[in-house]
Amino acid sequence: MENTPVLIAPSLLAADFLELGKDVDMVNRSEADWFHLDVMDGRFVPNISYGLPVIAQIKKRARKPCDVHLMIEAPERYAAEFQKAGADILTVHYEACPHLHRNIQQIKSLGMKAGVALNPHTPVQLLENVIRDIDVVLIMSVNPGFGGQTFIEQTYHKLSEIRQLIRDSNAHALVEVDGGVSPENAAQLIQAGANVLVAGSAIFSSPDPEKTIAVMKGGR
Ligand code: DX5
Ligand code: ZN
Repeated sequence: MENTPVLIAPSLLAADFLELGKDVDMVNRSEADWFHLDVMDGRFVPNISYGLPVIAQIKKRARKPCDVHLMIEAPERYAAEFQKAGADILTVHYEACPHLHRNIQQIKSLGMKAGVALNPHTPVQLLENVIRDIDVVLIMSVNPGFGGQTFIEQTYHKLSEIRQLIRDSNAHALVEVDGGVSPENAAQLIQAGANVLVAGSAIFSSPDPEKTIAVMKGGR
């Protein structure tokens, strides 16, 4: 897995919602690999973003897989709806799922790839008994809820720990990192074991988002 080329997943949370089609086209044209779509319910996280109808519209235009990050309580209530709206990868939070194993099976039975996200304080070892069942581990490098926050440095250590757990378990999950990711820390994150880099503000606030994506893709 260490030799897997790095994937870039721009987070549309930082896009211009009045010009969403243009930003979707930019990601389509760019070297990015996935669309990262952040759904917040105002309960699991202290913010509300966008939901099913917006994702269904993005899906009509997107030419790359849609990676939906659910920051919501009881995500099993909506898994089928997100599949219909166009999610290819559906990620739920460990902290929101007392029946995580069941949630993972539900997502996979709906034909999606299953991801599990960990808040910054949640130890990676808690995934030991499901790591072989999941396609993506999303390591939060900020507290979820908002774009534009400062990267938490402890994440580098966490990435090496999850990489070790994956190796020891003979698992195949991709490791995705989300929050405060930028061209400045991309290379070090890849070095620490990340396979998928999510970035919102670093891409959409840059003068040339397509170029920023290319720079991150090159790990430079
Ligand atoms: C935060 C979201 C992120 C967010 C990242 O809760 O999960 O995907 O869009 O934004 P930046 O890259 O600006 O930290
Ligand atoms: Zn996210």
